[in-house]
Amino acid sequence: MSRILVTSALPYANGDIHIGHLVEYIQTDIFVRFLRLIGEDVLYVCASDAHGAPIEINAAKKGMTPQKLVEEFHQRHQTDFSRFEISFNEFYSTDSPENQRHSEIIYLKAKENNHIVSREIEQFYCERCGRFLPDRYIKGTCPKCAAPDQYGDVCESCGATYRPTELSDAHCAICGAKPQLRTSLHLFFKLMDFSDFLLEWTSFPNRLQDEVRGFVRTWIDQGLRDWDISRDGPYFGFKIPGEENKFFYVWLDAPIGYIAATEHYVSGKNGVKVEDYWIDPKSEIEIHHFIGKDITYFHTLFWPAMLKAADYRTPTAVHVHGFLTVDSRKMSKSRGTFITARQFADQVNPWFLRYFYATKLGSTIDDIDLNLEEFVNRTNAELVNNITNLISRSAGFLNKRLDSRLGVVPKTCEELKKQVTTHVEQCYHDYRLLKYSNAIKNILAISDIANNYVQQNEPWSTVKTDPEKARDDLTFAINCSKILSILLKPVLPSYSAKVEQILGLGDLKWADAKFDFELRKINVFEKLVDRLEPNTMQHVIEKAKDDLVPKIVKTIAPEFKEEISIEDFAKIDLRVGKVLSASHIDGSDKLLKLRVDVGREIRTVFAGIKSSYSPEDLVGRTVSVVCNLAPRKMRFGVSEAMVMAASDPDGKIILCELDSDAVPGSIIK
Ligand code: 2FM
Ligand code: ZN
Repeated sequence: MSRILVTSALPYANGDIHIGHLVEYIQTDIFVRFLRLIGEDVLYVCASDAHGAPIEINAAKKGMTPQKLVEEFHQRHQTDFSRFEISFNEFYSTDSPENQRHSEIIYLKAKENNHIVSREIEQFYCERCGRFLPDRYIKGTCPKCAAPDQYGDVCESCGATYRPTELSDAHCAICGAKPQLRTSLHLFFKLMDFSDFLLEWTSFPNRLQDEVRGFVRTWIDQGLRDWDISRDGPYFGFKIPGEENKFFYVWLDAPIGYIAATEHYVSGKNGVKVEDYWIDPKSEIEIHHFIGKDITYFHTLFWPAMLKAADYRTPTAVHVHGFLTVDSRKMSKSRGTFITARQFADQVNPWFLRYFYATKLGSTIDDIDLNLEEFVNRTNAELVNNITNLISRSAGFLNKRLDSRLGVVPKTCEELKKQVTTHVEQCYHDYRLLKYSNAIKNILAISDIANNYVQQNEPWSTVKTDPEKARDDLTFAINCSKILSILLKPVLPSYSAKVEQILGLGDLKWADAKFDFELRKINVFEKLVDRLEPNTMQHVIEKAKDDLVPKIVKTIAPEFKEEISIEDFAKIDLRVGKVLSASHIDGSDKLLKLRVDVGREIRTVFAGIKSSYSPEDLVGRTVSVVCNLAPRKMRFGVSEAMVMAASDPDGKIILCELDSDAVPGSIIK
């Protein structure tokens, strides 16, 4: 038995998990479940990637702390992962004491060994926001194609990459202000020091896929540049020891999160220590990372170099996968194909996505396509009509006609048994080598063998003349179903558990995939899956589009009034007014007396806004005023106009204010 640590990339705690993310978690989970099934000791860890500017800025926009935002997404991610049966042993967070400790150790070790340098860099700074701006928070016109409103690093219109200073009209994407260039001292990790090590590390057999090794080697050959690992505050991250207002860049501590998650998992458990996984040079534990191709540079260059710099163990292998397309195009919010894990699981059985991705996944970095029609067709044809139909008709028939008792596998099946066994062996290698699409082909081949056998031997006919022959024939079919369920277990764990329940068997292992299930009673067949309706995915897409439309709070808003014509509306003389003075009125606890400039004259207004405003708050405000309401005689004097205001469900009054440069007396329409 080997001990193996497996990781999937850490999702940012800043948005929902979507079907694109799920390619990786499902790919990793199938590998992990396969290893467990063959008896390996696997630890599968992951965590929320909690740090960085986007999380901090988003939290500020929502008026919450970054910790709270991260906690909310951590919970949501956990729920989504469990609906898709992703079997992490540990789902931790990078904002954790373990992660801080390892980040500091690794940084200080690298510094002690002279792999850190500091130098000044020039960066955009927004005075209004009081912060340096990451490239993604600067927008402007593309210097190459003049497309407006492009990010500071890449133009989404023409694909050009550039420096933010090259944008012709750079502005802060948060507040719109024009930023200034400022210098700041940054810390750099000298990646170049590790060129030789990385050449050797990337050459190790089976560490990287050939095509990945190819482009990583090109990066090394082109010369590795120093990596900026510091960010100025405000920044949500760990403070850099010995520095003022400097924080580790999120990508420094993110992969260290793999170590922190391992440590959190093993703490309090006997026998294993985090050092065995990550530090002890004599350790034989394998470390396997699964990642998307966009983060290859981080995992195959920065990450092993950082670990090496601090004398930690380096990964055994990094497995890279491609992106997901839907109907051959990039996922898109407007087309409704940007589908979140929960939108999918709310309408479609998550098993089907696991199965479909398995049919598509190989060991290359090619993108995989979720063709929506193919998804429905394959699910129905392969999983429902082929694999499930075999057990459904065999077990169902045994239940109905043959007292649920199995016989023995017929002697005449020797050749077929051999064929099945060969497919089982091929399937084993396919899983090991991450060639899941081939594994599924072998699974379907077994299902075909068994279905054809049943079709040719017609137990529904022989049962009348030779019931024991029918029983034995169905015993062959049921053995095939048992084997299929074991082979499918990495992909469809709870489907297989249901099959085990029907067959009256416990938790089967890979080694049980053989023809030894005879002379036993099985349980009553219970429905395993429902077919997908042809329009299922259209509903999912409609829902995804619908969810993008902000929901109106319908709760306590009063009914709409009767319709009026534009002429009716035009009768109201609605104008811009400026509040010149405001005062309390003796004897009134609701009203304030205002003097309002409405252009042609100054009007006195008694406004019922005392519960929400104090007089000193009001002077200078630009408000909307109804100027042609009949003057109203009150106890304190005559009110000559009405200042407009909304009252919210709690009774709070909010003035309808206008931009301060609106000129008093202007008509509002
Ligand atoms: O690209 C991403 O989504 C990152 N959050 C992945 C981090 S993986 C690891 F290095 F932590
Ligand atoms: Zn700003």
